[in-house]
Amino acid sequence: MSLPKRVVLVGPMGAGKSTIGRLLAKELGYQFMDSDRIIEERCGANIPWIFDVEGEDGFRQRETAMLRELAEQDQAVLATGGGAIMRPENREVLKQDAVVIYLRTSIEQQVERTRKDRNRPLLQNEDPEAVLRKLFSIRDPLYTGLADIVMQTDRKSPRLVVRQLVNRL
Ligand code: S3P
Repeated sequence: MSLPKRVVLVGPMGAGKSTIGRLLAKELGYQFMDSDRIIEERCGANIPWIFDVEGEDGFRQRETAMLRELAEQDQAVLATGGGAIMRPENREVLKQDAVVIYLRTSIEQQVERTRKDRNRPLLQNEDPEAVLRKLFSIRDPLYTGLADIVMQTDRKSPRLVVRQLVNRL
C-alpha cells in the first residue's frame, strides 16, 4: 500500500474528526495534528475566548496561518475545524500533497454529538440545530468538492470508520 504524505479530515462540528483522526493516525503510524487544539495551545486560550476577544475574523486568521504551517508536515493526519474550508486559500493549502477525507454526518448526529458543548461558540444560542442546518447547506458542497473520499459516519463506531478508511486509502 502506498500511503499519502498527509491525510486531511474535513467535516462539520460533531463529525468525529478528532476521534477518528487520532485512531487513523495510530493505524497508519502517522502523527496526529488537531488544528483547533494547536491554535488553543499556541494562544494559551480556548476557542470561545478567541471568538470573544478577537471575533470570528480573528479566529479565522489564526486558523489560516495554522493550516498553512501544518500542511507542511509529512506522515501526518490533520483534523481541521468545521469552517476551515470556507476560505479558498485554505482549500488550496489543504489539498496540496494530501488525501482529503470528508466525514459526512447527518444533522441529527451533529446535534447529538455537540449537545451541551461549551467549546463551540457558533452553537451557543437558542437553536443550535438551525445553525448546524444552515452551515451544512452552505458547507456540504465545499466539503464534497474538496474531498477525495467521502465517508458517511452515521451509526458507525469510530473504529469501523477507520477500518473502512484504511481500505480506501
Ligand atoms: C467551527 C468549528 C470548530 C471550531 C470553531 C468554528 C466552525 O471546530 O473550529 O468553533 O466554523 O464550524 P470543530 O469542527 O472541530 O468543532
